[in-house]
Amino acid sequence: MRLSGLLILTFALTAPINQARSDNAAMALGKKVFLELAVPQCALCHTLADAGSTGPVGPVLDDLKPTADRVRTAVTKGVGPMPANTILTREQIDAVALYISTVTGAR
Ligand code: HEC
Repeated sequence: MRLSGLLILTFALTAPINQARSDNAAMALGKKVFLELAVPQCALCHTLADAGSTGPVGPVLDDLKPTADRVRTAVTKGVGPMPANTILTREQIDAVALYISTVTGAR
């Protein structure tokens, strides 16, 4: 009885920490996708203060404040002159969507 109570308590306390950890990992991955992994890199075309990028081609993401869904759609399907992604994994696309929507305050 006491042991199971302790296990439940331990789980209740660590679950949010684990969630926060995986969010942090996804945020770090998202920034890396934005700056390095996407081809061509998002940063070449987009300005985003958190990433320190000043790309002049596409909309300034700090002003646009796209939701995660909007980022996901833009990256998977392409928009106008912006090319659709052909190399990023689902996890990487989700991460860059989380990253941009979070740092611009859209989410
Ligand atoms: C070759 C330049 C280029 C690259 C690389 C690029 N974009 Fe874009 N992006 C654009 C342009 C141009 C637009 C505006 C398209 C339009 O509205 O017709 C745009 C639009 C967007 C939008 C807004 C879409 C909407 O719903 O209006 C988002 C979000 C976005 N890009 C995110 C990204 C992300 C994330 C990456 C990297 C994976 C990326 N872009 C890479 C040029 C680029």
